Amino acid sequence: MFFGIRVHFLFLLQAFVLDYSVGYYGFDICFSGERCVALDDCLDSHKISIYNYNLKSKICEKNKICCPKPGNILPDYMTCGQSSPQNRVAFGAKADMNEFPWMAMLLYQNTTTWDPRFVSVCGGSLINSRYVLTAAHCVVSVKYVPKDLLLRKVRLGEHDTSSNPDWVQLANGKWMKAPRHLEIEVEEIVVHTNYNWQLENDIALLRLEMPVSYTNEIRPICVPTKHFSLKNSLLQIAGWGLTENGQYSEVLLKSTILESHKCPHEFEYFRETSQICAGGQSKTDTCTGDSGGPLMAIRGRSFDEYVYVAGITSYGNHGCGVNVNPGIYTKTGFYFKWIWENLKA
Ligand SMILES: *[C@@H]1O[C@H](CO)[C@@H](O)[C@H](O)[C@H]1NC(C)=O
Repeated sequence: MFFGIRVHFLFLLQAFVLDYSVGYYGFDICFSGERCVALDDCLDSHKISIYNYNLKSKICEKNKICCPKPGNILPDYMTCGQSSPQNRVAFGAKADMNEFPWMAMLLYQNTTTWDPRFVSVCGGSLINSRYVLTAAHCVVSVKYVPKDLLLRKVRLGEHDTSSNPDWVQLANGKWMKAPRHLEIEVEEIVVHTNYNWQLENDIALLRLEMPVSYTNEIRPICVPTKHFSLKNSLLQIAGWGLTENGQYSEVLLKSTILESHKCPHEFEYFRETSQICAGGQSKTDTCTGDSGGPLMAIRGRSFDEYVYVAGITSYGNHGCGVNVNPGIYTKTGFYFKWIWENLKA
């Protein structure tokens, strides 16, 4: 048994200041709402067997782990939408490590070759311990996702796809290893029943095979309710650029965008009640968000900042340097009831 400061050693100062994730005596402090219980009790409550449980959980007391909340509960505002990037560079092209810890990479298998090297054509957002929110067009194999690709897994805690674990440079110039990313099988896909070829109701939920514990690298984003207004929000998109254009980035990229009024003119099927029209304002604004990834509305400032998944990247003309053109995003707040009704414990 090792009772020293076990984890996040170099994150310690930051952890104390920003998320209190490391306790004074070396045990982790659970996130708000997570219960500190024996592993068996946790597995029982989530109806998963020890044999397929392969997730690392935080140790909160001797022989006890931080047990995630059930899948039908959304995180409270102390927990969702919080990030603690290593060094935040506003408007930089590359996201900082841990800047968007809810970013999920959807992994597909080629059913012709059954090649174990999965590919990704979409992103998503972790909204609680068990569910990832994405676009319906990412999981229904019509037009966008090639017929021979089958969605199998979700990768969380990813930053740079070229290395696992990722390396982070600290303020003092030293490099350290970040925790490895996590891949979890998709247990169930829930697609909006009225999703159609006009890309109306382009929303879907992915239920993970097992719940995840939150860490610095893996955290949920806040889900807006019906009356969420975009006024006074900074909007950002992020993704690895794995879009239909075939553009690809190893490191997560981000871009700041603004609400736009161009969609009604440019897109025949734009619907203001259920969709958001937004676009970049200048070509210097880096790259694009993945399909299915979040349109993020950032509220508050610095230490009191929290992020909402205001929209889900649906369609439009995205691509590096061309995101001055607006794109259409599924308005998440409009679908709050649908999301809520489709979450299972
Ligand atoms: C799947 O593999 C087949 C055979 O190699 C290939 O022709 C096809 O393009 C692959 N599909 C995708 C979407 O990459």
